[in-house]
Amino acid sequence: MRRLAPFAGLIALALPPGCAEPPPAVDAGVAEVRAAVVVVSGDVRAQLAPVPDVRTATVGHVAGAPRPAAPPVVGGLGRRAAAAAEGLYLDAGDLWFPSYRVLPHRRADARAEAEAHAAALKRVGLAVSAVGEGDLAFGQDVLRELARAAGAELVSANLVQAGTSSLAFAPYAVVSQGGLRVGVVGASPVLPADAPEADAYRFAGLEARAAGPAVAGAVAAARAAGAEVVVALLHMPEPEAQAVLRGLPRGAVDAAVAAHGAGPGWFRGGLGVPTSRGRGVVRLAVGASGGAIAVQGAAVRLAGASLPGFEVEVARGAPEVVGAVACAETCHAEALQAWKKTAHARAMATLVGKKQGRNPDCMICHATGYAPSRALRPVEAEVSCEACHGSSAAHRADDEVPPEYGRVVPGWVCGGCHGVQARQGVFHVGVKQDALRSPGHGIRAPSKN
Ligand code: HEC
Ligand code: HEC
Ligand code: HEC
Repeated sequence: MRRLAPFAGLIALALPPGCAEPPPAVDAGVAEVRAAVVVVSGDVRAQLAPVPDVRTATVGHVAGAPRPAAPPVVGGLGRRAAAAAEGLYLDAGDLWFPSYRVLPHRRADARAEAEAHAAALKRVGLAVSAVGEGDLAFGQDVLRELARAAGAELVSANLVQAGTSSLAFAPYAVVSQGGLRVGVVGASPVLPADAPEADAYRFAGLEARAAGPAVAGAVAAARAAGAEVVVALLHMPEPEAQAVLRGLPRGAVDAAVAAHGAGPGWFRGGLGVPTSRGRGVVRLAVGASGGAIAVQGAAVRLAGASLPGFEVEVARGAPEVVGAVACAETCHAEALQAWKKTAHARAMATLVGKKQGRNPDCMICHATGYAPSRALRPVEAEVSCEACHGSSAAHRADDEVPPEYGRVVPGWVCGGCHGVQARQGVFHVGVKQDALRSPGHGIRAPSKN
């Protein structure tokens, strides 16, 4: 059996400092001995706080009103960095954002945290990550930008562009570690349409196909591309991951990691689940001698030393909102008139009518760029231009600079507020976006072409 062949006598690998294991012993009789360590995190969800005792971690607050720093959590970057320094660092998905859906008042902070995380992960050396539904909270393009900034590859064998059969990400990657070519296959969860998390796919323009056949195909392709060892990153709960593995030919993958484990992390029967929030990783020790591959897995709680230098400071705070009138004054008078005819221009009036005009829980969606920690500013009233196009202060000063979300409004922007309707099947983002287009707003008047 390829998978989990006994390790003893073949090779023993260096263990993290602090583990009372015998020193590495290499069998002198083996002609070619190669070994690699693979470290896999999962469900990290933008966990930056390195260690409870490092006070420079995750400092910052929403502009205007200080709020307490996030409670310290064991795990995080410094500890992951220490573990990852051992070998190849992979992630099983849900790496970047706290949730599959980020409400408007949290968007700026979530982006800033993800970007800080990406810069730090580049130094940590993240090689490959699976795509979790939570990674799509800001759409496909933002996820790709973050991965690029981290220098990491994204893998998902079963996510396709909605309504097509074209894969959105690479199904697998082959990376070298310790002289071994390690194939890394990714898969994303298949979610029922009424699951809240399905919003992430819906608004990112993606669909998940059955994971089993997709993973089988990707594993075969990775082997054909020269992978000597194959690790499957199955971003799904354990029972679904088990089902995928049962459908594969014996020995097709050498080890697999699932996500969404609530417990303390474990590894058994070739499948492991890391502890969420970066508190624990799955560590795979891979030994190869001639044609034989042996993988030993273990769940490792990251309680050891933290590598210094991975403290991350995030400047938080919502970007400036200039307001609909300012956009109209400068250029977009016709768009203002078009907007005034929509429900978005009456969103605050709706709240006032319900005697909820000062309720922060409502204003996060019925206003623009509002921070619950302070009073509403007049320019933030209503769901105005920048709720959909993003902060436009820089764009107003220089029209060569696009608004924050670019020329076309991404679906996830609508999804941040319209998720409930979408799940009920009454909000189809393409249709609703078309409804907002009119001469002067998204449709150019023929005379002006
Ligand atoms: C910041 C939150 C927010 C964002 C972002 C947002 N909306 Fe809305 N939308 C609302 C609110 C609130 C209402 C209801 C306003 C009222 O009637 O008081 C609404 C109402 C609507 C309506 C009319 C009611 C209906 O369901 O037919 C349409 C259409 C609509 N939105 C489409 C969109 C589209 C398309 C996008 C993305 C381009 C979008 N919205 C982005 C908050 C938002
Ligand atoms: C997650 C974003 C979100 C939050 C939070 C939110 N709303 Fe809304 N609200 C919407 C959207 C989107 C619509 C339009 C679609 C619909 O009618 O479902 C809407 C529609 C409404 C409408 C119906 C408007 C009409 O004339 O048809 C009322 C009333 C309303 N909201 C009140 C509230 C109140 C009160 C709160 C706070 C307790 C609140 N909303 C919080 C997004 C939100
Ligand atoms: C509820 C979301 C929403 C709001 C609010 C909104 N827009 Fe738009 N806007 C859109 C959508 C959707 C499009 C169509 C984008 C596309 O081409 O796919 C669009 C298109 C545009 C375009 C054309 C972009 C291009 O290059 O073709 C301009 C300009 C624009 N909006 C300006 C404004 C201004 C100014 C306001 C405020 C007065 C405003 N919008 C309010 C959603 C919104």
